[in-house]
Parts: sequence; structure tokens; C-alpha cells
Amino acid sequence: MQHNPDDIDVFQIERSVWIAEAKIQSPNYDFAFSQLLACSHSRFGMDEVTAVARFGAVLEYDALYASLLERGVRLVHSPAQHQLCSELPQWYPLLKGLTPESWWYDKAPDAETAGELAGWPLFIKGSRQTSRHQFKLSIIHNPEEYRVAVEAFSNDRMLHWQQVVIRRFERLRPIQADMGRRIPASFEFRSFWWHGHLAGVGPYFAEFAKYQWTESEKTEALRIAEDAARCVVLPFVVIDLAQCIDGRWIVIEINDAQESGYAGVPRLAMWQKVVELEQMLTPDSNA
Ligand SMILES: Nc1ncnc2c1ncn2[C@@H]1O[C@H](COP(=O)(O)OP(=O)(O)O)[C@@H](O)[C@H]1O
Ligand SMILES: [Mg+2]
Repeated sequence: MQHNPDDIDVFQIERSVWIAEAKIQSPNYDFAFSQLLACSHSRFGMDEVTAVARFGAVLEYDALYASLLERGVRLVHSPAQHQLCSELPQWYPLLKGLTPESWWYDKAPDAETAGELAGWPLFIKGSRQTSRHQFKLSIIHNPEEYRVAVEAFSNDRMLHWQQVVIRRFERLRPIQADMGRRIPASFEFRSFWWHGHLAGVGPYFAEFAKYQWTESEKTEALRIAEDAARCVVLPFVVIDLAQCIDGRWIVIEINDAQESGYAGVPRLAMWQKVVELEQMLTPDSNA
């Protein structure tokens, strides 16, 4: 996605958190701030505000960050912080042990090397993301499938510019959902964290299936996510969690929450919680 900084709307919700928004016409991502929360556009007397970006995933975060800064809007994540939560090779060392073992390369290793490292099946993706969760490009059962996937990787629009990441395949607790050619749905949850505090959580595959966890599953999963949130120390991250068939909870990945869709996370409650946390963390900021 590319944006002209002049098309980004900057406003404050509930006299607290600032948002820099452009709608991207995705029901999983857009939120009707102005209908559901008190929004104020006035920046009278303020040299600079710190704002949460809600304008989708951008190709040139650094450039947009710089041009917004010139306009007195500092995004909550610096370009370096954005990279840290977006690129697996950067966040993985912080979360080692909480997430499947992983290896990364500029160019994919041969099938024998990959199989020796991760065993079969293995999981393969770009350092940032998969190609729209396509099963055949992600879950690889043997050297033949691997060679086909690696070949496709270098031609795929979503993948070719990313580093190649190989991950140990974890057997996840399945859920019933018709996913077509996508990766089968598992018992996964998305969680949003504001400065290390939980702001919202909900089923990751909400669009495809209805499922919920028990209180004890939730407690167990959020313990892992909270550990992860503490380890990354960033203003606003998303942590995706999955339950393995043996009951363990793992972190699938983290992302910049500025770019993340809500999935099954109740969004109004999430923004209200962000406001509440912000008021707790900086009680004098809007006195
Ligand atoms: N190491 C793994 N083992 C088994 N399944 C995985 C593994 N990593 C990811 N998955 C499954 O694949 C899905 C997509 O992987 P993910 O890394 O989240 O890609 P993307 O960045 O494109 O969202 C996850 O939601 C999960 O269901
Ligand atoms: Mg994902």
C-alpha cells in the first residue's frame, strides 16, 4: 500500500491516544473511529503528537515516518522498532523457546540441508509473511515438494523480495473450517499489547470458524504471550498464539499492531482498553 501523507487523517480519541488513519477498505482492518469514539482533530498549540498508524501495511515505512514527522506526527514505532516486530530474523532471538525453531537465508538451502535442520514436514515462509497462507508454499512434506516450493518462492509476488525462513513444523490443534487451498485452521488467537499490557485478544480464524477457549486455556496462553510481550519491549505489538496438540501454547509470530487486522478481537473494547492503559501509564499527559 502507498499513501500520500496529506491523505492521512490525524485525530485524538477520547482526549488520549492519537491515531493517524487512512481507510484501506478491508473489513478486517478498518475501524469506524469517528462513529464509535470521541474524536478531536485540533492540534492547537502542540508541536508534535505521537500517533498510532492505522493505514495498513506500507512498503516504505521509513519514508512515510519521515514525512509525517515533518508534519508534526511521530508514529509510535520508529523505523527500527517497526522492523523489529515485522522481520522474523530480528524478533526471533528475543523470543527463542517461545516460538518454533527457525533458520533464515537470503537464498533457500538445498532440500537435504533443509530436511536435516528441520525434519519433514517443515514450514517455510518469508521473513515477514507467507504468500496469503497458501498451503503448498508453506507446509512441505518432502524434498520434491521443497524444490517446487523454493522455485515458486523466487517467482511469487509476495515472497521473492523476502528472506527465506524455515521453521520446525509444530502439530497444532485443528479446528473445523473450510480453508480451501489455505493452511488448515488451528486453535489460534491474536492478542494486542500496548506497552507490554494486554489490550485485546480473540480467535485468529474468526472469519472462518466459531471457537473459544476455556478460562484455563486463556490463562495459560496469555502467560506465554505476556512473556513474549515483555521480551520485545515495544509500544504496540500483536502476538499470535497457537495451541499444539499436546496442549502447549506457542507464539506463531509477532507483528506491528499498527498494520494488523483485528481478526476476532473485539475492536471497540480494544481501543477503549488502549485509552485506559495510556491514561494509567501517562496520567499527566492530558491534564
Ligand atoms: N512452525 C509452524 N508449524 C505449524 N504450523 C505453522 C507454523 N508456523 C505457522 N503455522 C501455521 O501457518 C499459519 C500462517 O503462518 P504465519 O507465520 O502466521 O504466516 P503469515 O505471516 O503470513 O501470517 C499460522 O496461522 C499457523 O496456522
Ligand atoms: Mg500470521
